[in-house]
Amino acid sequence: MSQTLQTEIQKEVDKRRTFAIISHPDAGKTTLTEKLLLFGGAIRLAGTVKARKASRHATSDWMEIEKQRGISVTSSVMQFDYNGHRVNILDTPGHQDFSEDTYRTLTAADSAVMLIDVAKGVEAQTIKLFQVCRKRGIPIFTFINKLDREGKNPFDLMEELEQVLGIRSVPMNWPIGMGRDLCGVYDRMKKQVELFQGDDHTTIQVRPVEDYNDNVIREMAGEFLHDQLVQDLELLDVAGDPFDFDKVRAGELTPVFFGSAVNNFGVQTFLENFLQLAPKPTPRNSLDGPVEPTSDKFSGYVFKIQANMNPAHRDRIAFLRICSGRFERGMSVRHVRAGKEIKLSQPQQFLAQDRDIVDVAYPGDIIGLFDPGIFRIGDSLAQGGNIVFDELPTFPPEIFAKVTVKNALKHKQYQKGLDQLTEEGTIQVFHSIGSIEETILGVVGQLQFEVFEHRMRAEYGVEIQLQRMSFQAARWIVDEQIDPGKFRINSTLVKDKKGNYVALFENEYAMRTAMEKNPTAKFLETQP
Ligand code: G4P
Repeated sequence: MSQTLQTEIQKEVDKRRTFAIISHPDAGKTTLTEKLLLFGGAIRLAGTVKARKASRHATSDWMEIEKQRGISVTSSVMQFDYNGHRVNILDTPGHQDFSEDTYRTLTAADSAVMLIDVAKGVEAQTIKLFQVCRKRGIPIFTFINKLDREGKNPFDLMEELEQVLGIRSVPMNWPIGMGRDLCGVYDRMKKQVELFQGDDHTTIQVRPVEDYNDNVIREMAGEFLHDQLVQDLELLDVAGDPFDFDKVRAGELTPVFFGSAVNNFGVQTFLENFLQLAPKPTPRNSLDGPVEPTSDKFSGYVFKIQANMNPAHRDRIAFLRICSGRFERGMSVRHVRAGKEIKLSQPQQFLAQDRDIVDVAYPGDIIGLFDPGIFRIGDSLAQGGNIVFDELPTFPPEIFAKVTVKNALKHKQYQKGLDQLTEEGTIQVFHSIGSIEETILGVVGQLQFEVFEHRMRAEYGVEIQLQRMSFQAARWIVDEQIDPGKFRINSTLVKDKKGNYVALFENEYAMRTAMEKNPTAKFLETQP
Protein backbone atom coordinates (compact mmCIF):
# COMPACT_ATOMS: atom_id res chain seq x y z
CA MET A 1 0.00 0.00 0.00
CA SER A 2 1.28 3.42 -0.73
CA GLN A 3 2.56 5.25 2.30
CA THR A 4 0.36 8.26 1.64
CA LEU A 5 -2.85 6.21 1.50
CA GLN A 6 -1.87 4.40 4.68
CA THR A 7 -1.18 7.70 6.46
CA GLU A 8 -4.42 9.17 5.19
CA ILE A 9 -6.56 6.26 6.38
CA GLN A 10 -4.81 6.19 9.75
CA LYS A 11 -5.41 9.91 10.20
CA GLU A 12 -9.08 9.65 9.29
CA VAL A 13 -9.63 6.63 11.54
CA ASP A 14 -7.99 8.43 14.49
CA LYS A 15 -10.39 11.34 14.02
CA ARG A 16 -13.59 9.36 13.96
CA ARG A 17 -16.08 8.74 16.74
CA THR A 18 -19.21 6.83 15.80
CA PHE A 19 -21.83 6.46 18.49
CA ALA A 20 -25.52 6.06 19.23
CA ILE A 21 -27.59 7.70 21.95
CA ILE A 22 -29.69 5.20 23.88
CA SER A 23 -32.55 6.33 26.07
CA HIS A 24 -36.18 5.96 26.97
CA PRO A 25 -38.60 8.33 25.20
CA ASP A 26 -38.69 11.81 26.73
CA ALA A 27 -35.33 11.60 28.47
CA GLY A 28 -34.14 14.37 26.12
CA LYS A 29 -32.42 12.58 23.24
CA THR A 30 -33.76 14.98 20.62
CA THR A 31 -32.69 17.95 22.70
CA LEU A 32 -29.21 16.58 23.39
CA THR A 33 -28.67 15.61 19.75
CA GLU A 34 -29.65 19.09 18.69
CA LYS A 35 -27.19 20.71 21.12
CA LEU A 36 -24.38 18.42 20.01
CA LEU A 37 -25.04 19.30 16.40
CA LEU A 38 -24.97 22.96 17.28
CA PHE A 39 -21.54 22.62 18.85
CA GLY A 40 -20.41 20.93 15.71
CA GLY A 41 -21.59 23.90 13.72
CA ALA A 42 -24.14 21.80 11.89
CA ILE A 43 -26.47 24.72 12.35
CA ARG A 44 -28.70 23.95 9.46
CA LEU A 45 -29.76 20.86 11.34
CA ALA A 46 -30.88 22.62 14.48
CA GLY A 47 -34.62 22.60 14.67
CA THR A 48 -35.01 19.85 12.15
CA VAL A 49 -34.34 17.27 14.80
CA LYS A 50 -37.16 18.74 16.79
CA ALA A 51 -39.43 18.89 13.76
CA ARG A 52 -38.76 15.26 13.12
CA LYS A 53 -39.76 14.43 16.63
CA ALA A 54 -42.97 16.42 16.31
CA SER A 55 -44.02 14.50 13.25
CA ARG A 56 -43.36 11.23 15.04
CA HIS A 57 -46.05 12.08 17.48
CA ALA A 58 -48.56 12.56 14.72
CA THR A 59 -51.31 10.09 13.93
CA SER A 60 -50.37 6.61 12.93
CA ASP A 61 -52.13 6.25 9.61
CA TRP A 62 -50.04 4.88 6.80
CA MET A 63 -48.97 8.12 5.22
CA GLU A 64 -47.65 9.17 8.57
CA ILE A 65 -45.70 5.99 8.97
CA GLU A 66 -44.30 6.43 5.52
CA LYS A 67 -43.32 9.94 6.40
CA GLN A 68 -41.82 8.89 9.67
CA ARG A 69 -39.79 6.21 8.02
CA GLY A 70 -38.60 8.66 5.45
CA ILE A 71 -37.68 11.03 8.18
CA SER A 72 -35.94 8.42 10.25
CA VAL A 73 -33.90 7.55 7.20
CA THR A 74 -32.84 11.03 6.34
CA SER A 75 -31.50 11.44 9.82
CA SER A 76 -30.08 7.95 10.16
CA VAL A 77 -26.65 9.42 10.57
CA MET A 78 -25.69 12.91 11.53
CA GLN A 79 -22.15 13.98 10.95
CA PHE A 80 -20.19 16.95 12.20
CA ASP A 81 -16.67 18.06 13.02
CA TYR A 82 -15.59 19.18 16.45
CA ASN A 83 -12.08 19.88 17.82
CA GLY A 84 -10.43 17.91 15.09
CA HIS A 85 -12.81 14.97 15.42
CA ARG A 86 -15.30 13.74 12.89
CA VAL A 87 -18.39 12.71 14.79
CA ASN A 88 -21.06 10.33 13.49
CA ILE A 89 -24.23 10.13 15.57
CA LEU A 90 -26.37 7.17 14.63
CA ASP A 91 -30.05 7.73 15.12
CA THR A 92 -31.79 4.95 16.95
CA PRO A 93 -35.54 5.25 16.46
CA GLY A 94 -37.06 4.95 19.86
CA HIS A 95 -40.68 6.00 19.87
CA GLN A 96 -43.52 4.40 17.98
CA ASP A 97 -41.00 3.32 15.38
CA PHE A 98 -38.95 1.24 17.78
CA SER A 99 -37.99 -1.87 15.87
CA GLU A 100 -35.27 -4.39 15.25
CA ASP A 101 -33.55 -1.69 13.22
CA THR A 102 -32.98 0.13 16.47
CA TYR A 103 -31.02 -2.83 17.81
CA ARG A 104 -29.18 -3.43 14.55
CA THR A 105 -28.11 0.19 14.35
CA LEU A 106 -26.32 -0.31 17.65
CA THR A 107 -24.08 -2.89 15.99
CA ALA A 108 -22.73 -0.11 13.77
CA ALA A 109 -21.69 2.09 16.72
CA ASP A 110 -18.31 2.03 18.43
CA SER A 111 -19.69 3.43 21.66
CA ALA A 112 -22.98 4.53 23.18
CA VAL A 113 -24.23 7.48 25.16
CA MET A 114 -26.87 6.46 27.65
CA LEU A 115 -29.16 9.33 28.44
CA ILE A 116 -31.10 9.19 31.69
CA ASP A 117 -33.75 11.49 33.12
CA VAL A 118 -32.58 12.47 36.61
CA ALA A 119 -36.10 12.11 37.98
CA LYS A 120 -36.94 8.81 36.33
CA GLY A 121 -33.70 6.89 36.48
CA VAL A 122 -33.19 3.76 34.39
CA GLU A 123 -36.31 3.08 32.30
CA ALA A 124 -37.54 0.11 30.26
CA GLN A 125 -36.33 1.01 26.78
CA THR A 126 -32.94 2.06 28.11
CA ILE A 127 -32.53 -1.37 29.68
CA LYS A 128 -33.20 -3.15 26.38
CA LEU A 129 -30.83 -0.97 24.41
CA PHE A 130 -28.19 -1.11 27.12
CA GLN A 131 -28.22 -4.90 27.01
CA VAL A 132 -27.52 -4.94 23.29
CA CYS A 133 -24.54 -2.61 23.82
CA ARG A 134 -23.39 -4.65 26.79
CA LYS A 135 -23.29 -7.83 24.77
CA ARG A 136 -21.01 -6.15 22.27
CA GLY A 137 -18.79 -4.86 25.04
CA ILE A 138 -18.73 -1.31 23.69
CA PRO A 139 -17.97 1.60 26.02
CA ILE A 140 -21.05 3.28 27.44
CA PHE A 141 -21.06 6.89 28.62
CA THR A 142 -23.88 8.16 30.80
CA PHE A 143 -25.44 11.61 30.71
CA ILE A 144 -27.89 12.28 33.50
CA ASN A 145 -30.22 14.93 32.19
CA LYS A 146 -32.68 17.53 33.48
CA LEU A 147 -30.63 18.59 36.46
CA ASP A 148 -32.66 21.81 36.47
CA ARG A 149 -35.53 19.71 37.81
CA GLU A 150 -35.84 17.92 41.10
CA GLY A 151 -34.65 14.39 40.69
CA LYS A 152 -33.25 11.37 42.40
CA ASN A 153 -30.24 11.52 44.64
CA PRO A 154 -27.09 11.01 42.52
CA PHE A 155 -25.92 8.17 44.76
CA ASP A 156 -29.27 6.43 44.29
CA LEU A 157 -28.87 6.79 40.53
CA MET A 158 -25.43 5.19 40.68
CA GLU A 159 -26.89 2.39 42.75
CA GLU A 160 -29.64 1.98 40.15
CA LEU A 161 -27.10 1.68 37.33
CA GLU A 162 -25.43 -1.07 39.25
CA GLN A 163 -28.59 -2.89 40.42
CA VAL A 164 -30.67 -2.63 37.26
CA LEU A 165 -28.00 -2.67 34.57
CA GLY A 166 -25.15 -4.33 36.39
CA ILE A 167 -22.64 -1.65 35.46
CA ARG A 168 -20.42 0.29 37.86
CA SER A 169 -20.12 4.01 37.35
CA VAL A 170 -17.63 6.78 37.91
CA PRO A 171 -19.01 10.31 38.14
CA MET A 172 -16.89 12.72 36.12
CA ASN A 173 -18.73 15.66 37.58
CA TRP A 174 -21.12 16.09 40.48
CA PRO A 175 -24.16 18.33 40.93
CA ILE A 176 -24.07 21.25 43.32
CA GLY A 177 -27.73 21.41 44.21
CA MET A 178 -30.53 20.34 41.93
CA GLY A 179 -33.80 21.61 40.53
CA ARG A 180 -34.51 25.15 41.68
CA ASP A 181 -31.38 25.10 43.82
CA LEU A 182 -29.10 24.00 41.02
CA CYS A 183 -25.95 26.04 41.34
CA GLY A 184 -23.70 24.11 39.00
CA VAL A 185 -21.53 21.05 38.71
CA TYR A 186 -18.09 20.30 40.09
CA ASP A 187 -15.77 18.78 37.49
CA ARG A 188 -13.81 16.10 39.34
CA MET A 189 -11.20 15.67 36.65
CA LYS A 190 -10.42 19.28 35.81
CA LYS A 191 -11.10 20.57 39.31
CA GLN A 192 -13.35 23.37 38.26
CA VAL A 193 -16.88 24.50 38.83
CA GLU A 194 -19.31 25.10 36.04
CA LEU A 195 -21.80 27.62 37.26
CA PHE A 196 -25.39 27.52 36.23
CA GLN A 197 -26.61 31.05 36.57
CA GLY A 198 -28.32 34.02 35.08
CA ASP A 199 -32.03 34.80 35.09
CA ASP A 200 -32.80 32.58 32.19
CA HIS A 201 -30.24 29.98 33.28
CA THR A 202 -28.28 30.31 30.12
CA THR A 203 -25.16 32.10 31.31
CA ILE A 204 -22.68 29.45 32.16
CA GLN A 205 -19.38 30.27 33.77
CA VAL A 206 -16.41 28.08 34.42
CA ARG A 207 -14.31 28.76 37.55
CA PRO A 208 -11.12 26.87 38.34
CA VAL A 209 -10.81 25.88 42.00
CA GLU A 210 -8.20 24.19 44.22
CA ASP A 211 -10.49 21.27 44.85
CA TYR A 212 -14.01 20.75 46.12
CA ASN A 213 -13.09 22.21 49.54
CA ASP A 214 -12.26 25.54 47.97
CA ASN A 215 -13.98 28.47 49.65
CA VAL A 216 -14.74 29.93 46.27
CA ILE A 217 -17.42 27.26 45.91
CA ARG A 218 -18.76 28.12 49.35
CA GLU A 219 -19.12 31.74 48.34
CA MET A 220 -20.91 30.82 45.16
CA ALA A 221 -23.12 28.01 46.36
CA GLY A 222 -23.66 28.89 50.00
CA GLU A 223 -22.83 26.92 53.08
CA PHE A 224 -25.51 24.32 52.82
CA LEU A 225 -24.84 23.20 49.25
CA HIS A 226 -21.09 23.32 49.72
CA ASP A 227 -21.23 21.15 52.84
CA GLN A 228 -23.33 18.69 50.93
CA LEU A 229 -20.88 18.67 48.03
CA VAL A 230 -17.88 18.11 50.29
CA GLN A 231 -19.68 15.30 52.07
CA ASP A 232 -20.66 13.62 48.81
CA LEU A 233 -17.27 13.91 47.18
CA GLU A 234 -15.38 12.72 50.24
CA LEU A 235 -17.54 9.65 50.17
CA LEU A 236 -16.95 9.20 46.43
CA ASP A 237 -13.20 9.58 46.85
CA VAL A 238 -13.15 6.88 49.47
CA ALA A 239 -15.86 4.47 48.38
CA GLY A 240 -16.37 5.19 44.68
CA ASP A 241 -14.65 3.42 41.81
CA PRO A 242 -11.56 5.21 40.56
CA PHE A 243 -11.54 6.22 36.93
CA ASP A 244 -10.10 3.27 35.02
CA PHE A 245 -9.67 3.83 31.31
CA ASP A 246 -9.33 0.12 30.50
CA LYS A 247 -12.57 -0.70 32.28
CA VAL A 248 -14.34 2.13 30.46
CA ARG A 249 -13.07 0.84 27.13
CA ALA A 250 -14.20 -2.68 28.01
CA GLY A 251 -17.71 -1.40 28.82
CA GLU A 252 -17.38 -2.43 32.48
CA LEU A 253 -17.39 1.05 33.95
CA THR A 254 -19.50 3.96 32.74
CA PRO A 255 -18.30 7.55 33.16
CA VAL A 256 -21.24 9.63 34.38
CA PHE A 257 -21.88 13.27 33.54
CA PHE A 258 -24.64 15.43 34.98
CA GLY A 259 -26.22 18.27 33.06
CA SER A 260 -29.27 19.81 31.49
CA ALA A 261 -29.54 19.44 27.76
CA VAL A 262 -32.31 21.97 27.24
CA ASN A 263 -30.25 24.63 29.05
CA ASN A 264 -27.12 23.55 27.23
CA PHE A 265 -25.59 23.04 30.64
CA GLY A 266 -22.79 20.49 30.88
CA VAL A 267 -23.21 19.47 27.25
CA GLN A 268 -19.99 20.90 25.91
CA THR A 269 -17.90 19.47 28.75
CA PHE A 270 -19.56 16.17 28.15
CA LEU A 271 -18.85 16.28 24.43
CA GLU A 272 -15.20 17.16 24.95
CA ASN A 273 -14.60 14.43 27.52
CA PHE A 274 -16.54 11.93 25.49
CA LEU A 275 -14.53 12.60 22.34
CA GLN A 276 -11.32 12.09 24.27
CA LEU A 277 -12.39 8.88 25.96
CA ALA A 278 -14.55 7.22 23.30
CA PRO A 279 -12.85 4.76 20.98
CA LYS A 280 -12.05 5.37 17.36
CA PRO A 281 -13.24 2.66 14.95
CA THR A 282 -11.89 -0.65 16.17
CA PRO A 283 -11.18 -3.88 14.25
CA ARG A 284 -14.30 -5.81 13.29
CA ASN A 285 -14.58 -9.57 13.42
CA SER A 286 -14.88 -11.59 10.27
CA LEU A 287 -14.82 -15.30 9.56
CA ASP A 288 -11.09 -14.97 8.88
CA GLY A 289 -10.32 -12.97 12.01
CA PRO A 290 -10.35 -9.27 12.83
CA VAL A 291 -10.31 -6.72 10.02
CA GLU A 292 -8.14 -3.71 10.85
CA PRO A 293 -9.79 -0.38 10.00
CA THR A 294 -6.48 0.88 8.65
CA SER A 295 -6.22 -1.88 6.06
CA ASP A 296 -5.83 -0.43 2.57
CA LYS A 297 -8.72 -2.59 1.33
CA PHE A 298 -12.19 -1.16 1.67
CA SER A 299 -14.77 -3.28 3.49
CA GLY A 300 -18.10 -2.82 5.22
CA TYR A 301 -21.40 -4.48 6.02
CA VAL A 302 -25.07 -3.67 5.60
CA PHE A 303 -26.86 -3.21 8.92
CA LYS A 304 -30.13 -1.69 7.78
CA ILE A 305 -32.23 -1.58 4.64
CA GLN A 306 -34.80 1.09 4.17
CA ALA A 307 -37.40 0.63 1.50
CA ASN A 308 -39.52 3.18 -0.27
CA MET A 309 -37.82 6.21 1.09
CA ASN A 310 -39.36 8.13 -1.65
CA PRO A 311 -42.71 6.57 -2.56
CA ALA A 312 -42.44 8.08 -6.04
CA HIS A 313 -39.29 6.16 -6.80
CA ARG A 314 -39.78 2.96 -4.86
CA ASP A 315 -36.11 2.92 -4.13
CA ARG A 316 -34.37 1.14 -1.35
CA ILE A 317 -31.33 2.27 0.55
CA ALA A 318 -28.90 -0.11 2.18
CA PHE A 319 -26.96 1.38 5.08
CA LEU A 320 -23.38 0.33 5.18
CA ARG A 321 -20.95 0.71 8.04
CA ILE A 322 -17.45 1.12 6.68
CA CYS A 323 -15.05 -1.15 8.54
CA SER A 324 -11.76 -0.69 6.71
CA GLY A 325 -9.97 1.14 3.93
CA ARG A 326 -11.15 4.09 1.95
CA PHE A 327 -14.43 4.39 0.14
CA GLU A 328 -14.52 6.24 -3.15
CA ARG A 329 -17.58 6.98 -5.20
CA GLY A 330 -17.78 4.75 -8.24
CA MET A 331 -15.41 2.14 -6.89
CA SER A 332 -15.91 -1.56 -7.63
CA VAL A 333 -16.27 -3.91 -4.70
CA ARG A 334 -17.12 -7.52 -4.19
CA HIS A 335 -20.61 -8.34 -3.00
CA VAL A 336 -19.41 -11.38 -1.12
CA ARG A 337 -22.66 -13.32 -0.69
CA ALA A 338 -23.69 -12.79 -4.30
CA GLY A 339 -20.15 -13.57 -5.42
CA LYS A 340 -19.91 -10.69 -7.88
CA GLU A 341 -18.33 -7.31 -8.38
CA ILE A 342 -20.58 -4.28 -8.10
CA LYS A 343 -19.99 -0.61 -8.66
CA LEU A 344 -20.86 1.75 -5.83
CA SER A 345 -21.98 4.64 -7.92
CA GLN A 346 -24.75 6.22 -5.93
CA PRO A 347 -23.71 6.42 -2.32
CA GLN A 348 -25.58 8.89 -0.20
CA GLN A 349 -25.21 10.32 3.18
CA PHE A 350 -28.15 11.68 5.02
CA LEU A 351 -28.28 15.00 6.66
CA ALA A 352 -31.61 16.36 7.68
CA GLN A 353 -33.91 16.27 4.70
CA ASP A 354 -31.19 16.56 2.11
CA ARG A 355 -29.48 13.74 0.41
CA ASP A 356 -25.83 14.52 0.14
CA ILE A 357 -23.65 12.59 -2.22
CA VAL A 358 -20.51 11.22 -0.66
CA ASP A 359 -17.29 11.12 -2.63
CA VAL A 360 -14.99 9.63 -0.04
CA ALA A 361 -15.61 8.02 3.32
CA TYR A 362 -13.60 6.14 5.92
CA PRO A 363 -13.99 3.51 8.64
CA GLY A 364 -16.62 4.54 11.15
CA ASP A 365 -18.66 6.37 8.52
CA ILE A 366 -22.06 5.21 7.39
CA ILE A 367 -23.06 5.47 3.77
CA GLY A 368 -26.40 4.82 2.14
CA LEU A 369 -26.19 2.72 -1.01
CA PHE A 370 -28.84 2.69 -3.64
CA ASP A 371 -30.26 -0.82 -3.56
CA PRO A 372 -32.01 -2.28 -6.59
CA GLY A 373 -32.89 -5.30 -4.44
CA ILE A 374 -29.50 -6.94 -4.21
CA PHE A 375 -28.68 -6.43 -0.55
CA ARG A 376 -29.67 -8.23 2.61
CA ILE A 377 -29.07 -7.29 6.20
CA GLY A 378 -25.59 -8.46 7.17
CA ASP A 379 -24.15 -8.52 3.62
CA SER A 380 -20.43 -7.82 3.42
CA LEU A 381 -18.85 -5.71 0.70
CA ALA A 382 -15.10 -5.91 0.26
CA GLN A 383 -12.40 -4.77 -2.09
CA GLY A 384 -10.16 -7.46 -3.45
CA GLY A 385 -11.25 -10.23 -1.13
CA ASN A 386 -13.98 -12.30 0.38
CA ILE A 387 -14.31 -10.83 3.84
CA VAL A 388 -17.43 -12.02 5.63
CA PHE A 389 -18.20 -10.07 8.77
CA ASP A 390 -19.74 -11.84 11.73
CA GLU A 391 -23.44 -12.40 11.25
CA LEU A 392 -25.65 -9.74 12.77
CA PRO A 393 -27.50 -11.12 15.76
CA THR A 394 -31.22 -11.78 15.54
CA PHE A 395 -32.97 -10.24 18.51
CA PRO A 396 -35.78 -11.99 20.34
CA PRO A 397 -39.15 -10.64 19.23
CA GLU A 398 -41.69 -9.62 21.83
CA ILE A 399 -44.86 -9.23 19.78
CA PHE A 400 -46.30 -12.09 17.73
CA ALA A 401 -49.10 -12.57 15.23
CA LYS A 402 -50.41 -15.37 13.06
CA VAL A 403 -50.46 -14.34 9.45
CA THR A 404 -52.87 -15.54 6.77
CA VAL A 405 -53.47 -14.49 3.16
CA LYS A 406 -56.96 -13.25 2.42
CA ASN A 407 -56.90 -14.45 -1.18
CA ALA A 408 -55.49 -17.97 -1.52
CA LEU A 409 -54.73 -17.37 -5.22
CA LYS A 410 -52.09 -14.87 -4.20
CA HIS A 411 -50.08 -17.44 -2.36
CA LYS A 412 -47.05 -17.25 -4.59
CA GLN A 413 -46.71 -13.48 -4.29
CA TYR A 414 -47.29 -13.80 -0.57
CA GLN A 415 -44.41 -16.27 -0.26
CA LYS A 416 -42.15 -14.00 -2.29
CA GLY A 417 -43.01 -10.98 -0.18
CA LEU A 418 -42.58 -12.94 3.02
CA ASP A 419 -39.12 -14.13 1.94
CA GLN A 420 -37.94 -10.72 0.80
CA LEU A 421 -39.23 -8.81 3.77
CA THR A 422 -37.67 -11.34 6.13
CA GLU A 423 -34.36 -10.91 4.36
CA GLU A 424 -34.61 -7.18 4.72
CA GLY A 425 -35.16 -7.70 8.41
CA THR A 426 -38.64 -6.15 8.42
CA ILE A 427 -40.02 -9.08 10.45
CA GLN A 428 -38.97 -12.50 11.72
CA VAL A 429 -40.85 -15.58 10.53
CA PHE A 430 -41.57 -18.74 12.48
CA HIS A 431 -43.43 -21.91 11.54
CA SER A 432 -45.54 -24.05 13.80
CA ILE A 433 -44.46 -27.66 14.07
CA GLY A 434 -47.87 -29.21 14.73
CA SER A 435 -50.09 -30.87 12.16
CA ILE A 436 -51.53 -27.54 11.05
CA GLU A 437 -48.92 -25.43 9.28
CA GLU A 438 -49.10 -21.92 10.66
CA THR A 439 -46.90 -18.94 9.93
CA ILE A 440 -46.11 -16.70 12.87
CA LEU A 441 -44.49 -13.31 12.61
CA GLY A 442 -42.39 -11.88 15.39
CA VAL A 443 -41.33 -8.26 15.89
CA VAL A 444 -39.93 -6.06 18.61
CA GLY A 445 -42.07 -3.03 17.75
CA GLN A 446 -45.67 -2.73 16.59
CA LEU A 447 -44.66 -0.51 13.68
CA GLN A 448 -42.91 -3.48 12.06
CA PHE A 449 -46.32 -5.19 11.64
CA GLU A 450 -47.82 -2.07 10.10
CA VAL A 451 -44.93 -1.72 7.71
CA PHE A 452 -45.17 -5.40 6.77
CA GLU A 453 -48.91 -5.24 6.14
CA HIS A 454 -48.58 -2.15 4.03
CA ARG A 455 -45.68 -3.36 1.97
CA MET A 456 -47.34 -6.70 1.28
CA ARG A 457 -50.28 -4.79 -0.15
CA ALA A 458 -48.35 -2.05 -1.95
CA GLU A 459 -45.43 -4.04 -3.35
CA TYR A 460 -46.75 -7.57 -3.70
CA GLY A 461 -50.47 -6.94 -4.09
CA VAL A 462 -51.31 -9.24 -1.22
CA GLU A 463 -53.90 -8.57 1.47
CA ILE A 464 -52.96 -10.28 4.68
CA GLN A 465 -54.59 -10.73 8.01
CA LEU A 466 -52.69 -10.57 11.25
CA GLN A 467 -54.04 -12.16 14.36
CA ARG A 468 -52.21 -11.11 17.51
CA MET A 469 -51.05 -13.91 19.78
CA SER A 470 -50.55 -13.72 23.52
CA PHE A 471 -46.85 -14.60 23.54
CA GLN A 472 -44.46 -11.99 24.83
CA ALA A 473 -41.01 -13.53 24.70
CA ALA A 474 -38.98 -15.89 22.56
CA ARG A 475 -35.88 -17.98 23.18
CA TRP A 476 -33.89 -20.15 20.79
CA ILE A 477 -33.69 -23.64 22.27
CA VAL A 478 -30.62 -25.80 21.95
CA ASP A 479 -30.64 -29.33 23.35
CA GLU A 480 -29.62 -32.86 22.35
CA GLN A 481 -33.23 -33.85 22.12
CA ILE A 482 -36.18 -31.51 22.05
CA ASP A 483 -39.68 -32.54 23.07
CA PRO A 484 -42.43 -30.10 22.01
CA GLY A 485 -44.58 -31.63 24.74
CA LYS A 486 -42.39 -29.90 27.30
CA PHE A 487 -43.28 -26.49 25.90
CA ARG A 488 -47.02 -26.51 26.31
CA ILE A 489 -47.82 -24.52 29.44
CA ASN A 490 -48.51 -20.98 28.24
CA SER A 491 -45.87 -21.54 25.63
CA THR A 492 -45.32 -23.21 22.29
CA LEU A 493 -42.44 -24.52 20.25
CA VAL A 494 -41.92 -23.33 16.66
CA LYS A 495 -39.09 -23.27 14.14
CA ASP A 496 -37.34 -20.26 12.63
CA LYS A 497 -36.43 -19.93 8.96
CA LYS A 498 -33.25 -21.89 9.41
CA GLY A 499 -35.01 -24.73 11.19
CA ASN A 500 -33.80 -23.80 14.69
CA TYR A 501 -36.21 -24.47 17.53
CA VAL A 502 -37.69 -21.39 19.15
CA ALA A 503 -39.98 -21.38 22.17
CA LEU A 504 -42.56 -18.63 22.58
CA PHE A 505 -43.77 -17.73 26.04
CA GLU A 506 -46.76 -15.85 27.37
CA ASN A 507 -44.87 -14.60 30.40
CA GLU A 508 -41.79 -14.95 32.59
CA TYR A 509 -43.44 -17.66 34.61
CA ALA A 510 -44.05 -19.81 31.52
CA MET A 511 -40.40 -19.42 30.60
CA ARG A 512 -39.24 -20.48 34.03
CA THR A 513 -41.55 -23.51 33.95
CA ALA A 514 -40.12 -24.54 30.58
CA MET A 515 -36.59 -24.12 31.93
CA GLU A 516 -37.39 -26.39 34.84
CA LYS A 517 -38.91 -29.00 32.54
CA ASN A 518 -35.93 -28.88 30.19
CA PRO A 519 -32.92 -28.73 32.49
CA THR A 520 -30.37 -29.64 29.84
CA ALA A 521 -31.64 -27.13 27.26
CA LYS A 522 -30.03 -23.78 26.56
CA PHE A 523 -32.42 -20.86 26.23
CA LEU A 524 -30.74 -18.33 23.96
CA GLU A 525 -31.76 -14.72 23.38
CA THR A 526 -30.18 -14.68 19.95
CA GLN A 527 -30.13 -17.15 17.12
CA PRO A 528 -27.56 -19.93 17.71
P1 G4P B 1 -36.68 12.45 23.55
O1 G4P B 1 -36.12 12.79 22.21
O2 G4P B 1 -35.74 11.65 24.38
O3 G4P B 1 -38.03 11.85 23.55
O4 G4P B 1 -36.82 13.79 24.40
P2 G4P B 1 -36.87 15.33 23.97
O5 G4P B 1 -35.52 15.81 23.65
O6 G4P B 1 -37.95 15.59 23.00
O7 G4P B 1 -37.26 15.92 25.39
C1 G4P B 1 -38.46 15.57 26.05
C2 G4P B 1 -38.92 16.73 26.89
O8 G4P B 1 -37.94 17.00 27.89
C3 G4P B 1 -39.05 18.01 26.10
O9 G4P B 1 -40.09 18.75 26.67
C4 G4P B 1 -37.74 18.73 26.37
O10 G4P B 1 -37.81 20.11 26.21
C5 G4P B 1 -37.52 18.33 27.80
N1 G4P B 1 -36.11 18.43 28.21
C6 G4P B 1 -35.01 17.98 27.56
N2 G4P B 1 -33.89 18.25 28.26
C7 G4P B 1 -34.30 18.88 29.38
C8 G4P B 1 -33.62 19.42 30.51
O11 G4P B 1 -32.41 19.40 30.63
N3 G4P B 1 -34.41 19.98 31.47
C9 G4P B 1 -35.77 20.04 31.38
N4 G4P B 1 -36.43 20.61 32.38
N5 G4P B 1 -36.43 19.55 30.33
C10 G4P B 1 -35.71 18.97 29.35
P3 G4P B 1 -41.54 18.85 26.04
O12 G4P B 1 -42.35 19.66 26.95
O13 G4P B 1 -42.02 17.48 25.69
O14 G4P B 1 -41.26 19.55 24.69
P4 G4P B 1 -41.01 21.09 24.47
O15 G4P B 1 -42.34 21.68 24.46
O16 G4P B 1 -40.13 21.56 25.56
O17 G4P B 1 -40.34 21.13 23.14
